[in-house]
Amino acid sequence: MARLQKLLLLLGLVLNAQAMGNAAQDNQQIIANTLITTEAHDRPNVVFILTDDQDLHLDSLSYMPYLKQHLLDQGTFFRRHYCTIALCCPSRVSLWTGKAAHNTNVTDVNPPYGGYPKFVSQGLNEAWLPVWLQEAGYNTYYTGKLFNAHTVENYDAPFPKGFTRSSFLLDPFTYQYLNSTFQTDKDAPVSYEGNYSTDVLASKAYDFLEDAVSEKKPFFLTIASNAPHSNVAFKQDWFGGNASGDTIITSPPIPAERHKDLFKDEIVPRTPNFNPDKASGVSWIAGLPKQSQNNVDFNDHFYRNRLRALQAVDEIIDGVIKRLDEYGILDNTYIFYSSDNGYHIGQHRLQPGKECGFEEDINIPLIVRGPGVPKGKVSDIVTTHTDLAPTFLSLVHGKLRADFDGAVIPLDAPGLDEAQVTRHEHVNVEYWGFALSEGDYGQRWFDNNTYKALRVIGRGYSLYYSVWCSGEHQLYDLINDPYEINNLYPTNHSAIFTFEQVNSGKSASAKLGTLISRLDSLLLVLKTCKARECTHPWEVLHPSGNVQNLYDALDSRFDDFYELQQERVSFSKCEKGYILESEGPIGAKAYSIEEIGVRGGHLWHELV
Ligand SMILES: *[C@@H]1O[C@H](CO)[C@@H](O)[C@H](O)[C@H]1NC(C)=O
Ligand SMILES: *[C@@H]1O[C@H](CO)[C@@H](O)[C@H](O)[C@H]1NC(C)=O
Ligand SMILES: *[C@@H]1O[C@H](CO)[C@@H](O)[C@H](O)[C@H]1NC(C)=O
Ligand SMILES: *[C@@H]1O[C@H](CO)[C@@H](O)[C@H](O)[C@H]1NC(C)=O
Ligand SMILES: *[C@@H]1O[C@H](CO)[C@@H](O)[C@H](O)[C@H]1NC(C)=O
Ligand SMILES: *[C@@H]1O[C@H](CO)[C@@H](O)[C@H](O)[C@H]1NC(C)=O
Repeated sequence: MARLQKLLLLLGLVLNAQAMGNAAQDNQQIIANTLITTEAHDRPNVVFILTDDQDLHLDSLSYMPYLKQHLLDQGTFFRRHYCTIALCCPSRVSLWTGKAAHNTNVTDVNPPYGGYPKFVSQGLNEAWLPVWLQEAGYNTYYTGKLFNAHTVENYDAPFPKGFTRSSFLLDPFTYQYLNSTFQTDKDAPVSYEGNYSTDVLASKAYDFLEDAVSEKKPFFLTIASNAPHSNVAFKQDWFGGNASGDTIITSPPIPAERHKDLFKDEIVPRTPNFNPDKASGVSWIAGLPKQSQNNVDFNDHFYRNRLRALQAVDEIIDGVIKRLDEYGILDNTYIFYSSDNGYHIGQHRLQPGKECGFEEDINIPLIVRGPGVPKGKVSDIVTTHTDLAPTFLSLVHGKLRADFDGAVIPLDAPGLDEAQVTRHEHVNVEYWGFALSEGDYGQRWFDNNTYKALRVIGRGYSLYYSVWCSGEHQLYDLINDPYEINNLYPTNHSAIFTFEQVNSGKSASAKLGTLISRLDSLLLVLKTCKARECTHPWEVLHPSGNVQNLYDALDSRFDDFYELQQERVSFSKCEKGYILESEGPIGAKAYSIEEIGVRGGHLWHELV
């Protein structure tokens, strides 16, 4: 009976949509899809647990037993998942819209370049995932941190659109573990002074879950903790366009009372890039002093409190799984786990923080379990936060949008196997403006942290390339230098760069300059790419389709095209936001077929 009612209701919607003519065609498609899949089987639910500033490289996942038991062991871990901008608000806006920051132009945490007001003024409150999920017939629930500069003043100007129910953590209390403010549905904000914020979050999440289940409609629930972000107090000027090291007070995250004595002996992993004797990186990082023992001790304490603060999140994982099981819907629910961006503590002598392009900051957790998702699998395919909105929409059988900058992440074994061969190998990373030290030591604020970067992970290579507003460049070969210590860019560009096992066990080599020219042109395409160009940039450079990856592009017949004809990525000025005039050449030239006959000296060759 219930099923019949549902079908009739959907049928009515289809007829209505038809009556509305062309304008309703998109919706009609969605409803038609809904009808088909409702007949076949109930559409899945999705629970998305999103943490704040959680690292992958400082080993935080190893301290979360429920995460291991319920997610890693029961799902697939995407170990090459990246954010495309290592800062909370821009990263979250990219995640929820499926667009790179250069296409949302939400590039900062505060106005004028970012924050909730910029999200709204860019028209994104009408064009983001919650709205599309509702259009696809889903109930949507959200609790926790949404964006920065979403405050007790502007929470209703306007309300975030697209939620069946919501309860948001609001600034300036978002990062106050013991003095949070939540704002529920259309109600006024409520202070939870004295309660532990992650526990308040858990109670909201469980209430919403109960609500969602009682509605008998598929649902999408997001649980977004402020943990393990540092504890923060703001001075009012922070939000008004005068953000600086003087208008923010950061301290280590605060654990729940029951977790405060855990992990007494843990310290930041002492990887080769941890507080090294020899500085490296671009000038502002290379200029950092080696950290004193007191500084290192404090940062280890900071690290321990991150692990402790994550325990309450780990309990939420268990609480959610147990409830889904009790409701009898665990088998029809996808659970996603990720963070907005990564984190560094002490690597390259950096104080606690993010905002950089190093692996610690951009390579972040993504774990998925659910119907058909391989269990206990580790996938090597390259995925990014801009892929999540398309992935969610495809799971709920919604209509994918033509302007998505990302691509659906396959979630079953055949799809994952195929993607291993066919999926793109690059990540475009971008950043504008400040870097902040969140610990007690060192210079608090650095202004000119503006760069364009590229991660390329293919067969036989794993590279990081970046161009800075200062004119500096970085090139790291992560196969031989996984900790990004030896910048190859300032070395001899005529030297030979050797790749490993590019094809069938053979090695190959190219001049460093040849390699750099290809990476630069790829970055030139990506830094302003839109939609398909972002996932298929080689098509822009080689419209004939004969180049599909970096390996193909290294062919010596393209030397002249890349080394002489293309302009190089550059900046004329360091800006705090996306000011196009200061960002040098825009758009790359396309290789023309006529030139194929002109061959160079075959510098690119295989060494058997
Ligand atoms: C919570 O925030 C309010 C408003 O800023 C403040 O008056 C109060 O002292 C804070 N309480 C704690 C425990 O920090
Ligand atoms: C907040 O703390 C009080 C006192 O311990 C408790 O009674 C209440 O249930 C807590 N509220 C939430 C939402 O955790
Ligand atoms: C920013 O600081 C400047 C100089 O102190 C001041 O004149 C201006 O009013 C401040 N703007 C805001 C929005 O607080
Ligand atoms: C750069 O490398 C090339 C090729 O190995 C070599 O011939 C040349 O002498 C090097 N130049 C410098 C300045 O070291
Ligand atoms: C930052 O860049 C601006 C503009 O390019 C420049 O005027 C300023 O001196 C730079 N500041 C620092 C601290 O390097
Ligand atoms: C991005 O937003 C800023 C602030 O509103 C504006 O000045 C800039 O021109 C915008 N950039 C682009 C490329 O539209």
